[in-house]
Amino acid sequence: MKIIKAKDYKDMSRKAANIISAQVIIKPDAVLGLATGGTPVGTYAQLVEWYNKGDIDFSGVTTVNLDEYRGLARGHKQSYWHFMHAHFFDYVNICPERIFMPKGDDLDEVKVCKDYDRVIENVGGIDLLLLGIGSDGHIGFNEPGGAFEPGTHCVNLTESTIEANARFFESKEEVPRQAYTMGIRTIMQARKVLMIASGEKKRDIIKKAFFGSVTPAVPASILQIHPDFILIGDEEALEGVDL
Ligand code: F6R
Repeated sequence: MKIIKAKDYKDMSRKAANIISAQVIIKPDAVLGLATGGTPVGTYAQLVEWYNKGDIDFSGVTTVNLDEYRGLARGHKQSYWHFMHAHFFDYVNICPERIFMPKGDDLDEVKVCKDYDRVIENVGGIDLLLLGIGSDGHIGFNEPGGAFEPGTHCVNLTESTIEANARFFESKEEVPRQAYTMGIRTIMQARKVLMIASGEKKRDIIKKAFFGSVTPAVPASILQIHPDFILIGDEEALEGVDL
């Protein structure tokens, strides 16, 4: 586990974008695993800026997103499909046929999950996976529980995740109660995992996840045993962490 302290959100985003662009330069046909949420917005904006300058080319890249709300159509403003296009895909030259996300509008959970695992397998697994962390330690939508779920599965969102995500909806009631998410085995099989964390509200969970025991009660804690895991946090998120 490698921890990098960034000055602030902008610096964290730039450092993360640097690692992603290095991956794409080294391997132009890289498979990138991507996250949504507030944290990666700056990273995507930085990548778009470098793309516009001609410094990075996504034409050979494949992307597989971590998760999607169950029951939201791709056109829904709060779907992760929409988020990814609004923040990243619409502004770079990623080939639309190589963009993959669980099909949120398909309610057949067994089929959606099986299909998504097959997609990830068919593209050869993930070279670099970008993650955020929930304040309860979730990664993707792998919520705290009694066991690590291996493959793509359908989850009931916890009250704290519904509350955290309500900021993106008109009201808490509108937040979907279920989501499809990549499983922990798939996350752990990514050849490189890059987590970004910003702000005081992530401070406690970072200590718990990366300086406490490895337990499904804190899903992110499993990353302690990933062979190539990098955490980039800003000063607020990493306050009190000795490097
Ligand atoms: C999003 C995802 C989630 C978020 C987490 C943190 O695709 O998988 O695990 O990374 O909820 O969200 P933010 O960045 O909004 O604090």
